[in-house]
Amino acid sequence: MPERFYVTTPIYYVNDVPHIGHAYTTVTADALARWHRLLGEEVTFLTGTDEHGLKVARSAEANGITPQEQADRTSARFREVWELLDITNDDFIRTTEDRHTVSVQAFMQAIFDNGWIRKGTYAGLYCVACEAYYTEADLVDGNCPIHGRPVEWLEEDNWFFELSKFTQPLLDWYEANPDAVQPEGKRNEALGLIRQGLEDVSVSRTSIDWGVPVPWDEGHVFYVWYDALINYATAVGYGSDSERFAQWWPEVHHLLGKDILRFHCVYWPAMCLAAGIEPPKKLAVHGFLLVGGEKMSKTRLNQIFPADLVADFGVDGFRYHFLRDTPFGPDGDFSYEQMVTRYNTDLANNLGNLLARVATVVTKKCGGIGPAPSPTSPLADVVAEAYEATAAGWQAIAPSVALEATWRLIGAANAHLEANEPWKMEPGPQVDAVMGDALEVLRIVAVLASPAVPRACEQVWQRIGLEGTPCDQRLPEAAAWGAYPGGLAVEKGAGLFPRIQAPAAG
Ligand code: MSP
Repeated sequence: MPERFYVTTPIYYVNDVPHIGHAYTTVTADALARWHRLLGEEVTFLTGTDEHGLKVARSAEANGITPQEQADRTSARFREVWELLDITNDDFIRTTEDRHTVSVQAFMQAIFDNGWIRKGTYAGLYCVACEAYYTEADLVDGNCPIHGRPVEWLEEDNWFFELSKFTQPLLDWYEANPDAVQPEGKRNEALGLIRQGLEDVSVSRTSIDWGVPVPWDEGHVFYVWYDALINYATAVGYGSDSERFAQWWPEVHHLLGKDILRFHCVYWPAMCLAAGIEPPKKLAVHGFLLVGGEKMSKTRLNQIFPADLVADFGVDGFRYHFLRDTPFGPDGDFSYEQMVTRYNTDLANNLGNLLARVATVVTKKCGGIGPAPSPTSPLADVVAEAYEATAAGWQAIAPSVALEATWRLIGAANAHLEANEPWKMEPGPQVDAVMGDALEVLRIVAVLASPAVPRACEQVWQRIGLEGTPCDQRLPEAAAWGAYPGGLAVEKGAGLFPRIQAPAAG
């Protein structure tokens, strides 16, 4: 039985169109999925859209359309962008789908049946125009901060999840699973929230009807977060296919931004425990992608859209930058200049140049036919070390570390060429030996780098005369030294990554 790897992104709200913050998480999940497919694992990669709740209902109202129309339109935008970025998700979930309603109702019913949901009263200052509760601190001159109108004291009967009873079970789970939340700083943050003591949380609303109906109480819908989190279970068959669910759960890897840590690292594991299933195996938390030191937002008008960067850097240039330059964990400041530098250094000068040099020398000195590598090449050890480090990086959900390791190998192959200067040699066994080794590195690099830059790797593969694609290869066999057969026609072709001019300063 092959191992299974289940990876998810958060599901994105459909009130906002996709920007590079969303793309950052999704590209990372995609690269991980591609890496695990190379390892021969069975992979499910899930992304999707979060379509219920007040936020979406309001934005539909502002656009003069129904919430369903709003969801249909924006969900399609997300799908388009993922296609543009060569995202290979196996499933795309929308929370307005029937399969999700069935699953949410089954999941919450299980919590209810297990005795962890009770009726209670939610009371607070309410703005009818907003259909939302505010605290004293939110008010401006005692009025609603949005409408400037008086708020009223409202009490609503709600269903409450007894989160308070899960303080100790969660602490026990954290202790038994010290690696479940990464990085450690985020694990400590989650533990801090739990140690403060948890209060019961309201999971239903009567003030809005854009949501999944509460099965045991007509007129209530679930609060959007309790519907949203369950998407991860829905997609692998919760409530509809228990055999499938058992195959994929709890071996799930959730990627998420630090803004939604509390929901994922406190509420979600507690909901799983309450429903009688294991909490997720891994919660990998990343920081914000900042623009000019600030979080991107519609109101600040500082959003950057993937298509604009793809126009300048290509799909692979886009993917590579976010995977290599924004380490997974801390916040990262987006910089166009840095993107240009990274593209020119790593993609144009390193990978692109290696292929161009090899193809040129093979054309001129080897009659266009690639020679086989030497079994005793000094590059064989470099490859072995690079493979280990690359694999360890992907395993640790640290794409920047993995790619740095793969690029060290490209650098070593370029250095090997510079040390030997095959372009100055006469045709013969000496040139063949150097070029055979360089071609073998290109073959292995095409496999190792394919999770990040799939298009370029396919090009490399074809140009050195190999059949199939790098994605069809299986690791670790494909990284073993010596598989380039030699005797294949090598094609020079156009530059893989034409250099990009840095924008003029100022
Ligand atoms: N719908 C909820 C998530 C429910 S998951 C069960 C939500 N959606 S969101 O669209 O607002 O944001 C989702 C995720 O997008 C964030 O957690 C993060 O992963 C990513 N990002 C959105 N803006 C971002 C940045 N500026 N930087 C990095 N990631 C960001 O929250």
